[in-house]
Amino acid sequence: MRRIFSGVQPTGNLHLGNYLGAIRNWVHLQRDYEDCLFCVVDLHAITVWQEPAALRASTREVAAAMIAAGIDAEKSVIFNQSQVPAHAELAWIFNCVARMGWLSRMTQFKEKAGKNKENASVGLFAYPNLMAADILAYKGTHVPVGDDQKQHLELARDIAQKFNNDFGVDFFPVVEPLIFGAATRVMSLRDGTKKMSKSDPSDQSRITLTDDADAIARKVRKAKTDPDPLPTSKDGLEGRPEAANLMGIYAALAGQDLEQVIRDHGGHQFSRFKQDLADLMVDRLQPITAEMRRLTADTAYIDGVLRRGAEKARALSAPIMAEVQDIVGFLRP
Ligand code: TRP
Repeated sequence: MRRIFSGVQPTGNLHLGNYLGAIRNWVHLQRDYEDCLFCVVDLHAITVWQEPAALRASTREVAAAMIAAGIDAEKSVIFNQSQVPAHAELAWIFNCVARMGWLSRMTQFKEKAGKNKENASVGLFAYPNLMAADILAYKGTHVPVGDDQKQHLELARDIAQKFNNDFGVDFFPVVEPLIFGAATRVMSLRDGTKKMSKSDPSDQSRITLTDDADAIARKVRKAKTDPDPLPTSKDGLEGRPEAANLMGIYAALAGQDLEQVIRDHGGHQFSRFKQDLADLMVDRLQPITAEMRRLTADTAYIDGVLRRGAEKARALSAPIMAEVQDIVGFLRP
């Protein structure tokens, strides 16, 4: 059996990278796989401080974005993590399976904790254990993730294997990553070597899913470029991160491969290409943005979707958690 699980953090500024790198791919996956769970990972979000009202708003915004982008809440399970206790329960058990050494090697922790590791939350350190629990509480088998999450997925596999070994069972499946094309790695509009990020202090660096048409056009127009016209071959993108980024974004939005974009736009000046890109972006994003706006205004509806999703998720995880409790030796009601 195949089951897809993926998650996105509700930490504000949902941007083009989140859309092209994650949410849009999920829409495609739901066509090919019967069994998909898409989770707003609020427990992960609080590994760094979140203002409670902002956390609530972001959780609803991410759910609205998923629905607006085309994820069908009847077919797939859309929910927020904290409404399903299995995540935290299994994460605790995995805290006792995973080794300090494994987690110490996680590059994302080192990046996020920065120089002051002593002051990072324990949750930030244990973050990957919770991620493994997200997937394995449903015996998820396939996980669409970006490059930056591959190491965490490796860890989830190690945890599943060690759990199976420690208890002499063949219980948790081997989790497989689903990696999408390179074009989905969206970089900052201000620096083509840095990932587009919700935490970048410059709002110019990202297109958010709440930007209107004017904002999109302005940000694309101001995006960093180099002085040369666009290259006429893929090799010509070498050493030109901004050109590569903008052409990659175009390809992803147009549903074309990069070769096609190079054939159609190679040799053009940036100013002309930026106009084309802004038009395409507005065309593809505005319907989603408008629907998102409509949905976020209807909190009762969004909360209802998340509540029903959580009910379904609890029903799926309950029998798996009951077995886990038996395996570990916990008495249960
Ligand atoms: N860590 C992921 C990210 O920041 C989000 C996430 C949490 C996730 N749990 C998950 C992704 C489980 C895939 C599966 O992008």
